[in-house]
Amino acid sequence: MAPRSLSFVLLLVSYAVASSSSATVPTVSASAFSSSTPVTSSTSSLSSASTSTSGIATSVSTSSSMTSYLATETGPLTLPISHYSFTPFPTPTLAPEPPGFPATDPLYPPPVSADPVIVPDFAPAWAVAYTKATSMISNFTIEQKVNITTGVGWTNGLCVGNTPPVGDFPGLCLQDSPLGVRDTDFVTSFPAGITTASTWNRALMRARGLAIGQENRMKGVNVALGPMMNMGRIAQGGRNWEGFGADPFLSGEAAYETILGLQSGGVQATAKHYMNNEQEWKRTQESSNVDDRTEHEIYAQPFMRAVMAGVSSVMCSYNLVNDTYACNNNKTLNDMMKREFGFQGFIQSDWSATMSTLSAVAGLDMTMPGDITLGSGTSYYGQNLTDFVMNGTISVQRLDDMATRIIAAWYYLHQDEGYPNATVSSFDLYNPINQEVNAQSDHYLIVREIGAAGTVLLKNEGALPLDKPKSIVLVGSDAAPPVSDQGGDPSGILAMGWGSGTDNFTYLVSPYEAIQARARVDQTSVFWNFDDWDLASAGNSVIGMEAAIVFVNSDSGEGYITVDGNAGDRQNLSAWHQGDQLILAVAAQNNNTIVVTNSVGPLIIEPWVDNPNVTAIVWANLGGNEAGNAIADILYGAWNPSGKLPYTIAKSPTDYPAQLVTGGTAADILSINYTEDLFIDYRWFDAQNITPRYEFGFGLSYTTFEYSDLAITEISPADSAQMDLVQNWEDGGATPIAEGSTTALWLHMPAYTVTFNVENTGTLYGGEIPQLYIHHPPSAGEPPSILKGFTNVEVSPGQTTSVSITLSRYDLSIWDVVRQGWAKPEGTITFSVGASSRDFRLNGTIPS
Ligand code: BGC
Repeated sequence: MAPRSLSFVLLLVSYAVASSSSATVPTVSASAFSSSTPVTSSTSSLSSASTSTSGIATSVSTSSSMTSYLATETGPLTLPISHYSFTPFPTPTLAPEPPGFPATDPLYPPPVSADPVIVPDFAPAWAVAYTKATSMISNFTIEQKVNITTGVGWTNGLCVGNTPPVGDFPGLCLQDSPLGVRDTDFVTSFPAGITTASTWNRALMRARGLAIGQENRMKGVNVALGPMMNMGRIAQGGRNWEGFGADPFLSGEAAYETILGLQSGGVQATAKHYMNNEQEWKRTQESSNVDDRTEHEIYAQPFMRAVMAGVSSVMCSYNLVNDTYACNNNKTLNDMMKREFGFQGFIQSDWSATMSTLSAVAGLDMTMPGDITLGSGTSYYGQNLTDFVMNGTISVQRLDDMATRIIAAWYYLHQDEGYPNATVSSFDLYNPINQEVNAQSDHYLIVREIGAAGTVLLKNEGALPLDKPKSIVLVGSDAAPPVSDQGGDPSGILAMGWGSGTDNFTYLVSPYEAIQARARVDQTSVFWNFDDWDLASAGNSVIGMEAAIVFVNSDSGEGYITVDGNAGDRQNLSAWHQGDQLILAVAAQNNNTIVVTNSVGPLIIEPWVDNPNVTAIVWANLGGNEAGNAIADILYGAWNPSGKLPYTIAKSPTDYPAQLVTGGTAADILSINYTEDLFIDYRWFDAQNITPRYEFGFGLSYTTFEYSDLAITEISPADSAQMDLVQNWEDGGATPIAEGSTTALWLHMPAYTVTFNVENTGTLYGGEIPQLYIHHPPSAGEPPSILKGFTNVEVSPGQTTSVSITLSRYDLSIWDVVRQGWAKPEGTITFSVGASSRDFRLNGTIPS
């Protein structure tokens, strides 16, 4: 076992102190927090940290909002005032060794692969950036370094978050969102994260990331606030659609490719929200209580992949994790993110999620947007951080580390080399500073392709693809162009949810428009009825039509907006606007009723799924600008459906392992206990033997595929591998407690290649998503099947293609809580390859 570093030992000590303390946060003063206001009362005694200083002081009282967060069920859990020494985490280094482990600049990532075997090594690029950053700050004063870490305050800049210029550092523009550049014009609205995940296609994930990155660069955004990679633990979770579904492996791969894409476009990416921000209700007043193994294997996995993609920034979330606020959490920030994952970039807070000046000690590098509460004019950093450094509470070394990480991330993306100035104007779109830079390019092509590839065909009784129908009728407002923009009750096609995870539609193609255009080609009579509420009229309008297409949707978003009683999270899992009744009214009159859904997540579709007159179900997710065109591409077979569900569609809401926790008084901190532990989504259904309506990974095609000839071969470790660690792992040892232990090359390089054949046995060209699930021995305590590989193939009718999926030692490991490392469980590990989490076609055993 490698020796622990000094910094890690110190961390453990400080964490132990913090955990056992019952000290409360001192009453601190805040001052103008992003200025060069000189500190006139530099002090040396600790007690002075809790007294007012001069400067533009705004006194921070221990108001209920400050005291309430201490009232957790296990009592206060904050760091005590003390002297905190600090040693920076060393960069985990291992000589790069191409081609498997090439030194990689984030602007030039390895080419995308459906079966990635290259582990990019970003350490040399970070090292160069660190040298430059260290040199830049060498002459900075404490106040200047503090200003690097402190946002200028809510609405005080062009972007949703801003840091001020300091010396030669121009400051940063931080801007939402995960699906495009928010709060500006002439940008693309890309399909949401959930749609992108439904493609199970790494090339499309990468292409979308790159295009969003390019648009951010064109608008002068330094730091894009995405991707979002929370797990969709609760089907009703308001922001699930921003993320990549309910499986950590799929979500991790989507995050990985998105970040490689974004950063190759020039913008810094932000992995958010770290972590366990799984519901909107009381998101700032809920403690997600999660055991260590579940945290590692489920919720942290996408963030680990983000670090492996060389992500520049991580955003800590609003909620508490195990009774400590996520932005004040030494365990998740310092120990997991920086020590275990070896993260070299900076951690920023979610907007006003910073809870203390001492968060700096817990690992928070930047407070956003700067103020304690939005617009308060106070800050936990700014003058307070200056004071804490001046009086020795927080060491200068830690402040240097914070400033270095932020500036290094800027150098790392080469943003010192002629990067455009910000031209967004978030709080006043029509300000002339918004130079109307057109960032769209031809990105609509990617939008349309992902929209189609991210649509899942759930049922098809021969109704699709449409073949020059004589007459069709479109029913439901979701078929129509919206009357108003996103953010309210959907008045037309739902192409994204609401909240900060959005951008402004430059244009939006509805299904109505796309189908009209096609009808001209096919000479089809098209009728429409967009009224969701008049069921009799809906039923009458479809009588005698060759096909009736009913469009329904379900919306959700960020909790600061409530729509029709949905405070971010959905109140239920039914289609909005009485969608179930609308479908039944149409199906009662037409025996070729095709249902199209635009939903932020799972719906309960039992009222109509088995209705014999419902001949097809098209699960179209949230398509962005080109939503209507993508739906038409699926309906008419211009794209043979290949999407697969990134979550389970249950028969009943209570079948899901976890439910939204509501209630609580204004002061309460809700306890959300993740009692299902590893068994989220399909893992639960499998373990509990609950039959889902449509399982995770399910999706039909207009053709059929057969699988054959499974083989698995062991790959001998590359020269660069740490053979002692490989051997230790083979012998049942756990990964050592060390910097970068979880992201180490030896753990992630290819260890086994699984090969098999996929034959297109139908009559149409099409794509399939072969999936690989691991089955651990029962003694390991794992769910019956866990996704550990997928790829995408496209095959012509009658043709067979050979497929490979690579597994690493990490893929076969489980987190050992006692040894605090990844280890191979004892016993035989088997695996299956197939078309969904319940449609296994081939089975094999990992050689021991
Ligand atoms: C959201 C973040 C977002 C930030 C800035 C917060 O409310 O949780 O996802 O990036 O606001 O808009």
